[in-house]
Amino acid sequence: MIGVAMIGTGKIALDNHLPGFALCPDTKVVALCDSNPQVLEAASRASGIAATYQDYQDVLRRNDVTAVVIATPNFLHAPIALAAIAAGKHVMCEKPIAMNLDEALRMYRAAEAANVRHMTAFTYRFGPGMRYMERLVHGGAIGRPYHFRAQRFQDWDARNLGWRQVKKLAGTGELGDMLSHRIDYGHLLIGPVRRLVADWRRFLDSRQGAPSDLEDWVAILAEFESDVTGVLESTKLAIGRGEGHYGQDVCEVNGSEGTIVYTTQRPLEVRMGKAGAKDLETVTVPAEFLAWPGSPRDRRQGDPLATFRYDQDFEFIDAIRNHRSCRPSFLDGARAQAVMDAAVLSAQERRWVDVPRVQ
Ligand SMILES: NC(=O)c1ccc[n+]([C@@H]2O[C@H](COP(=O)([O-])OP(=O)(O)OC[C@H]3O[C@@H](n4cnc5c(N)ncnc54)[C@H](O)[C@@H]3O)[C@@H](O)[C@H]2O)c1
Repeated sequence: MIGVAMIGTGKIALDNHLPGFALCPDTKVVALCDSNPQVLEAASRASGIAATYQDYQDVLRRNDVTAVVIATPNFLHAPIALAAIAAGKHVMCEKPIAMNLDEALRMYRAAEAANVRHMTAFTYRFGPGMRYMERLVHGGAIGRPYHFRAQRFQDWDARNLGWRQVKKLAGTGELGDMLSHRIDYGHLLIGPVRRLVADWRRFLDSRQGAPSDLEDWVAILAEFESDVTGVLESTKLAIGRGEGHYGQDVCEVNGSEGTIVYTTQRPLEVRMGKAGAKDLETVTVPAEFLAWPGSPRDRRQGDPLATFRYDQDFEFIDAIRNHRSCRPSFLDGARAQAVMDAAVLSAQERRWVDVPRVQ
């Protein structure tokens, strides 16, 4: 039996991770931890898990906790991960895994040195369409890639975003919150980014009376090491476009022999065009990509917009059980962080910035 503790029992813990672990064989979430007693109580009631803690150090002392998931505001990811690693626990950490590359590398190196499994919750990698797109791009289906493009446009308007709008708690705004997943798409589909130029903007200094010191919009123009061009843009102020399962959430690669487009909102299909075609055509994702290899999840059950997210918890547990690296690992989280740090520097200094090679 693998015992898991959830550290941070807010939205993502309840939406993604508790249902994910419920599907994992011989796995049990044995403890919940949240510094907010009301949130903790609600999570305990919703899950039926009675062991609750407000201090994560108390959870780490439990011998029946083999692994932890860190789903707190970003500034706590590194200290909690380092404490968990020191206690010999396997760690899955929400994205962005750290406040900067230095922290991310410390997490990665500590986990490697302690020989514990480490995973970054880049959830959208698990979408069936993205997995199929990865196979198609790497299999040469669209020839030599020329352009990578990712867009996340949502309408969060002037809503108070809580810790997400406070620099000392979140690090960055839209960059870490939304674009980090799309940076990971770029790494997955194309490879490392060599250099970039970025810009960002905060249009709202206050959200429902609470100050915001982070960007609402960010864009990156990137050059990959393979000479592929990248254009990534993300905003919370695409008013009228909706949010979550709505809005624009597109990833596209154009190659010498065709184009593939994927949207997270239609996880079971991609759109493809071959050279000379008049338009893109919808292609259904083949059965072998509908769930992560080995996942016990019934491919026909549940809402496909939600269910692929549970596979990341299976991947974490399967890696622990089989003593192998997780995909994606802290190394992938650190690689995304290197791009994010370069984007911050570029936006601040208004210039192109080289991205350090993280390995
Ligand atoms: N992978 C994804 O698709 C995805 C989606 C949403 C959020 N996230 C990430 O998950 C993390 C949490 O986001 P959320 O939307 O669930 O936020 P949330 O605010 O709903 O939950 C965070 C919880 O952490 C708790 N917390 C704060 N300090 C704590 C401490 N010292 N010890 C224990 N708990 C503490 C808060 O009380 C809160 O309940 C963030 O890093 C976010 O970027 C990832």
